[in-house]
Amino acid sequence: MIATQYKGNKNFAVIDKKIEEPKDDEVRIKVAYSGVCGTDVHIYHGMMDKRVSIPQTIGHEMSGVIDVVGKNVTNFKAGEKVVVRPLDDRKVKPSDKGFNHICEDLKFIGIDSPGSMQQYWNVPAFVLHKLKPETDLKLAALIEPLSVATHDVRRSGLVKGETAVVLGGGPIGMLVAMVAKEVGAQVIISEVNPTRIKMAKDLGFDAVNPTEVDLVAYVKSKTEDKRADVVFEVAGVQPALDIMCEVAGIRGRILMVAIHGDKKPVDLFKFFWKELSLIGARVYEKEDYEKSIELITENKLPFEAMITDVQPLSKIQQVFENIDKNPSGMKVLMDCSL
Ligand SMILES: NC(=O)c1ccc[n+]([C@@H]2O[C@H](COP(=O)([O-])OP(=O)(O)OC[C@H]3O[C@@H](n4cnc5c(N)ncnc54)[C@H](O)[C@@H]3O)[C@@H](O)[C@H]2O)c1
Ligand SMILES: [Zn+2]
Repeated sequence: MIATQYKGNKNFAVIDKKIEEPKDDEVRIKVAYSGVCGTDVHIYHGMMDKRVSIPQTIGHEMSGVIDVVGKNVTNFKAGEKVVVRPLDDRKVKPSDKGFNHICEDLKFIGIDSPGSMQQYWNVPAFVLHKLKPETDLKLAALIEPLSVATHDVRRSGLVKGETAVVLGGGPIGMLVAMVAKEVGAQVIISEVNPTRIKMAKDLGFDAVNPTEVDLVAYVKSKTEDKRADVVFEVAGVQPALDIMCEVAGIRGRILMVAIHGDKKPVDLFKFFWKELSLIGARVYEKEDYEKSIELITENKLPFEAMITDVQPLSKIQQVFENIDKNPSGMKVLMDCSL
């Protein structure tokens, strides 16, 4: 089979590898599609070399079909369509309070251990979620990032009739916006990239560029001066941190989705003055996957538009080089049958 390996320093190898038998508690998946995540791009750029053991097969946004099950696996069988929730929580402790998805010793499959950018992938059965036979496997590769969005919206407590401002219309922000709209909220996307603004508008979203439009005045004009009930920070930059406390209205909830690798200044006075809440949101729980599987299977939202390119797995090097050249694209999938 073909497997890919990140070798360090913006280099991938495509190797011919022996197909391995799954261990007793594992299944072997024939991977259908593997999506490229922002984290994979960070790995490619060498920013996670301390964490990723090189050479490593990366990838965690995938869909596939079970090929073989290990002898202790009773709840799955060959031929079933599945996705992986790539969280290895086997080292969960009582002090994690039952929040397995953010337990202290969590390992992320595809970063800390081999991932899905290969034709066959052995994983422990407990990470699997079953799909319906009719589920489209291309769309199903979006279930992992969509589950980030369903988790964020659930954590926010957003309800119908509220206004949500999404700061950053990248893949995650766009999926957050879709899920927020599905809840029945009024959604405003703030994005600086003209291609992504156009895409958001084409999908029917109210999208503005905060470097051209006064975002606070705009949000006020759409909310009878009340401003946003919920702000999703999905841009990961200082200007978004500066404006999040401004666009949030009284008792607004701010969801911190973006990963800020270093300490940044935030106007804490606004938290006191408007009784704001800051809520962290990290990955997803089982129920977020179940909600995403339902949304994808029913193809309820404009998910197809999220997939801006599909390339053979064997072209992995060009895929990552092209992402660097065209950062406006949304989700690139690799077809793992090729
Ligand atoms: N919480 C989690 O578990 C989780 C999971 C996945 C990703 N993330 C994080 O979510 C963030 C978004 O992920 P992504 O893949 O969509 O990344 P991305 O970089 O593609 O998207 C960020 C977007 O923000 C836009 N932007 C930049 N400056 C802006 C500004 N001043 N105002 C508004 N928008 C601005 C960019 O143009 C870009 O489109 C990243 O920080 C990522 O690390 C978190
Ligand atoms: Zn991801």
